[in-house]
Amino acid sequence: ELHRIPHPPHRLPLLGDVLGASRRTPLQDSVRYARQLGPIFRRRAFGKEFVFVWGAELGADLADEARFAKHVGLGVANLRPVAGDGLFTAYNHEPNWQLAHDVLAPGFSRDAMAGYHRMMLDVADRLTARWDRAVASGSTVDVPGDMTRLTLETIARTGFGHDFGSFERSRPHPFVTAMVGTLGYAQRLNTVPAPLAPWLLRRAGRRNTADIALINRTVDDLVRARRTGRDAGGRGRAGDGSSGTGRDLLDLMLETAHPETGERLSPENVRRQVVTFLVAGHETTSGALSFALYYLARHPDVAARARAEVDRVWGGTAAPGYEQVAKLRQIRRVLDESLRLWPTAPAFAREARADTVLGGAHPMRRGAWALVLTPMLHRDPEVWGPDAERFDPDRFEAGAVRSRPPHTFKPFGTGARACIGRQFALHEAALVLGLLLRRYELRPEEGYRLRVTERLTLMPEGLRLHLDRRRTAE
Ligand code: HEM
Repeated sequence: ELHRIPHPPHRLPLLGDVLGASRRTPLQDSVRYARQLGPIFRRRAFGKEFVFVWGAELGADLADEARFAKHVGLGVANLRPVAGDGLFTAYNHEPNWQLAHDVLAPGFSRDAMAGYHRMMLDVADRLTARWDRAVASGSTVDVPGDMTRLTLETIARTGFGHDFGSFERSRPHPFVTAMVGTLGYAQRLNTVPAPLAPWLLRRAGRRNTADIALINRTVDDLVRARRTGRDAGGRGRAGDGSSGTGRDLLDLMLETAHPETGERLSPENVRRQVVTFLVAGHETTSGALSFALYYLARHPDVAARARAEVDRVWGGTAAPGYEQVAKLRQIRRVLDESLRLWPTAPAFAREARADTVLGGAHPMRRGAWALVLTPMLHRDPEVWGPDAERFDPDRFEAGAVRSRPPHTFKPFGTGARACIGRQFALHEAALVLGLLLRRYELRPEEGYRLRVTERLTLMPEGLRLHLDRRRTAE
């Protein structure tokens, strides 16, 4: 029944809908098509046909877990060579998904979060030390670069007791460079005909192999260090025992058996999970923080309100406690609104569990799938109003949220395979934004216009900010 779904007008034989489309910005191109073609449309490239969905009604239908499930396809499937059957890339039928999900769940409990809080603060201190130096020397700061330093150190410290030393390096850690290469390669694989990929992307493919090898090496070293430390009776990591469970993600993976089956993760699967968490646990949060800082710098009135709340809730405490972070309601709205406009993991795929009809109009066979185009779902004028493109955190006031239809805000995906790190990301991001607003005034660089780079995830390209220390800050 594909013929009833609209597609771009100028379709070429063999090549498909490539006219006017850019290899670098497939997501932003899809958003452009969405505006022309409506809440369900298809794009074809090199013989592959993808269906995109974004309207509130169809989006809610795809969120029905009884009829639809996560589909591992496109960009996600292209990450299988590096992430294997790790949580993010596992097929629904792979037994390691449920096993790892259950073993790792305590690592994301409230207690566990409270235990990570202290380490998150330590990492944030390293960021402010770096930004204080920028203030002193009158230079601007590289927002995506520094947010990536922060989020990588945070997941590495809290999850694995590892220190990448990102703040002590002038260039990104080689793990980050390799990861960015692998994400970019996974995206590029979608832009060439699959049978020709080995030729067309030969050099890129060789680099990708090297990138994956570096990623695996990094992870194997990290796991080995923990095993050795443990055998020697040492814990070999910072921050345990502060509160919470006192066990980090790696401890859970190495030491915990499944509560019912008694099964354990294999060493190969542990490697896949560590890669998954190091990548999924920092890249998207870094983007979310970067977009939020962009909007805060652009909207001094919003920043002033959020800052006033930080001053009120945190007072002069040098180190805000765990409980004090969730109280920053304004900052939470700024984050939500940034993730509405730029959900940094900008699409997720859903497949039919059995033959069904989408939205009462589009028949789907078992296994057929569609991509939910989150940025458009989040900009649907019928849901968000005629000013849907405008940044306005008040959209996330409780009353406004209640009045919107369900399943229209999905930056963390949906259902059983939704993001396991949501609370982790939101706590980390709110804490850091609170600390930064309390300490600095943010000013955009003259003439900066938002450009968004895509490497499966979204990031504001080249964003730099001027900082001033606040006079009232400690
Ligand atoms: C899954 C977004 C932060 C770990 C997902 C999915 C989305 C998402 C959309 C579902 C993908 C799909 O359906 O194919 C985000 C965003 C984040 C964020 C926007 C930050 C703002 C994190 C963090 C962690 C994490 C901090 C780990 C500490 C994961 C994992 C999955 C996942 C392991 C796979 C879950 C499963 O299938 O069982 N994330 N994420 N994410 N995320 Fe996140």
